[in-house]
Amino acid sequence: MKPVQNPSGAPELRFPEGFGWGAATSAYQIEGAANEDGRGPSVWDVFSHRPGRVREGATGDVAADHYHRLTGDLDLMRDLGLRSYRFSIAWPRVLPTGRGTVNAKGLDFYSRLADGLLERGIAPVVTLFHWDTPQALQELGGWENRDCAKWFADYAHTMFTALGDRVPTWLTLNEPKTVVDVGYTAGTHAPGKQDRQLANVVGHHLLLGHGLAVQAFRGTAGKGRIGAALSLSPTYPADDSAAARLQATRADAEENRRWLDPLLLGRYPADWLATQPADAPLRAAIKDGDAAVIGARNDLLGVNYYGTTHVTGTGSRVMLHPTSQATWQEIDPNGLFDLLTRIKRDYGDLPLTITENGMATTNPMQDQDRVTFLRDHLAAAHRAIQAGVRLESYHLWSLMDNFEWAEGYTQRWGIVHVDFATQKRTHKASADWYRTVIARNGV
Ligand code: FCB
Repeated sequence: MKPVQNPSGAPELRFPEGFGWGAATSAYQIEGAANEDGRGPSVWDVFSHRPGRVREGATGDVAADHYHRLTGDLDLMRDLGLRSYRFSIAWPRVLPTGRGTVNAKGLDFYSRLADGLLERGIAPVVTLFHWDTPQALQELGGWENRDCAKWFADYAHTMFTALGDRVPTWLTLNEPKTVVDVGYTAGTHAPGKQDRQLANVVGHHLLLGHGLAVQAFRGTAGKGRIGAALSLSPTYPADDSAAARLQATRADAEENRRWLDPLLLGRYPADWLATQPADAPLRAAIKDGDAAVIGARNDLLGVNYYGTTHVTGTGSRVMLHPTSQATWQEIDPNGLFDLLTRIKRDYGDLPLTITENGMATTNPMQDQDRVTFLRDHLAAAHRAIQAGVRLESYHLWSLMDNFEWAEGYTQRWGIVHVDFATQKRTHKASADWYRTVIARNGV
């Protein structure tokens, strides 16, 4: 961990031996093959095919065609030197209607993916739910329906049984906050609803699904570890006023504690719950015993970090740092240090993995801005490790350009460029830079 000199004389920050240098993707964003080998539709297939929902009418029908290019993509990961790869399983590829009979071909794809990673010395990190709820379940209410938590745990159990011998790290949910805030409140993600009260019920059922999946995991022989991947954003007052400090505390409850507390402390934060009206459907959705299920022990926590949040005394968000092409992103590497050390301080000494971190840039190949972004965030992560945080691995978002949800293909987040007309993969400057980082085990 001590700084050493690299050949150019600049200090190098060395990471602990065995640090998990990784990259992340998700199924709907890269796989394509939406109607092949028995895959059923998800809410994202339906949503993206609705006119006007995704920029330029884009869909994930083909995406980066990863389903057909598995071997080449695995070799790409090996050539970068990745030690860890975070991918998600498309629930409706394995269970076309969300439950019932397993689609053997779908399962086989993930089995080959896991094997291919292990053959190349790359540890699989599997996300079970990265937003692609099977459409057949959505027609029964999806996550609005409490039963969805149970359906999810059954699906999770199928995956633990199938891949538990090969997967060391499982993540139940990716960013439940985004499902609630964007899918059910703003309505700009699938399933495109705009109902804040219903959104909070969905959030509770997602948490319950996480808890039931953890329970299912403990009941299997799987030797791995399990947790969730949360999108977290440290919140700060935009000025010194008492009003801004109060608003920052409120924003922290909404952004962070309403997810962290139930998962890691087994209860919703009292100040957040107090903001829910007495007749809020959420209150009826919370049943006796849920808190214990949701708060059952996790082995690790996945942290998706994109930036900080600053709020004024009236509670509005202001950007005090530069943004990326993704205008919601306030780029502030120091926030990562604050976040990681805060988790340790408030939630205990849980092993952490950064499950996503990255930026969109319009720079197609010479993405020096991304290199700077990654370097600064890795330096902040290194500082957190020095401060005693048990950070085990880092997965940049993303391995390759992909379908960026409502933005379609207009935002590129990859370190590997994808020409969507030919599906040719080409290293950007950031990919070559990252390969060197991994080889030296430091920045
Ligand atoms: C995160 C998502 C991921 C990707 C990045 C840019 O919120 O988890 O799928 O879209 O943002």
